[in-house]
Amino acid sequence: MSDRPAAATARAHSNIALIKYWGKRDAALNLPAVGSISIALDALYTDTRVTFVPAMTADKVEIGGRQVDGARFTRFLDLIRAQSGRRSYARVESWNNFPTGAGLASSASGFAALALAGTHAAGLDLSPRELSILARQGSGSAARSVFGGFAEMHRGEAADGTDAFAEPLLGADEWPLDVIVAVTDKASKSVNSTLGMSQLAERSDFYGAWVEHAEGDLADMRSAIAARDFGMLGALAEMSCLKMHGLMLSTRPGLLYWNAATVASMHAVRTLRSNGVEVYFTIDAGPQVKAICQPADSERVAATLAQVPGVLETRRSGLGPAAYRVD
Ligand code: PMV
Repeated sequence: MSDRPAAATARAHSNIALIKYWGKRDAALNLPAVGSISIALDALYTDTRVTFVPAMTADKVEIGGRQVDGARFTRFLDLIRAQSGRRSYARVESWNNFPTGAGLASSASGFAALALAGTHAAGLDLSPRELSILARQGSGSAARSVFGGFAEMHRGEAADGTDAFAEPLLGADEWPLDVIVAVTDKASKSVNSTLGMSQLAERSDFYGAWVEHAEGDLADMRSAIAARDFGMLGALAEMSCLKMHGLMLSTRPGLLYWNAATVASMHAVRTLRSNGVEVYFTIDAGPQVKAICQPADSERVAATLAQVPGVLETRRSGLGPAAYRVD
């Protein structure tokens, strides 16, 4: 057993995928069927404190001060216990500075923060890649939240998932972009991503085409990022979002994450664009719309989205840093 302290706190930022991940090649190890490329969001983050307490008889997990069902977290903490040799149960206290489970990628920032805080509390000092592999087993998108700026998640080929990790592509300050989040519903979504993705190959006729074209989309996005070509990045991001939602809609039973304000916000983004403002939308497994633009345009984009009927609030974010310890 290590002599490190048994408690640690970490902050990880949420991220949104520009090229989307949807579908698993191995559900038990949480291996993605496709790679993905994302940007970290400075304004949305999770702080998590993990304390291993020898006297406890079960893990205890609180999000925002409310105790939650610990099963998914215990499975994740078991991975840390297996790697570290630490046997005690843990108290996990987590705070999101945004609504949980509503399509704002709380599982991405949550499991990245838990991976970093949990491993340090257990006396482990993992490399960013090892941390990304661990975080992936909590939530696929969490593998990307280990890194800041632009990150790419590799689907990998290995059966054991050792090559399914994220890597940084570009730092947050190397190409400043803004994201305006239009919140259209603060409730938790009814079909979470794990459920929505389960047995997708049998449940959607579009799945084969989705997987087949993923590598090409990733290569195009890598080129757009390398060239700092914002028009290309935005067009690809909007395309990947709509393609993923097409796949979701084609799943039996159809997954429809949008509400009226989601669709109105998408139209508002396209109207802005036809009026000369370079802005593109993306949407995850929820009703919130994220509009991606260059910093000079973000005030106008935020003001426009705030006027859309059904938009409850807007949040403006630049690109965020990698996960880090705060204790
Ligand atoms: O990481 P998960 O299991 O919450 O899945 C994330 C799926 C999407 O947010 C819809 C897309 C993505 O790549 O983040």
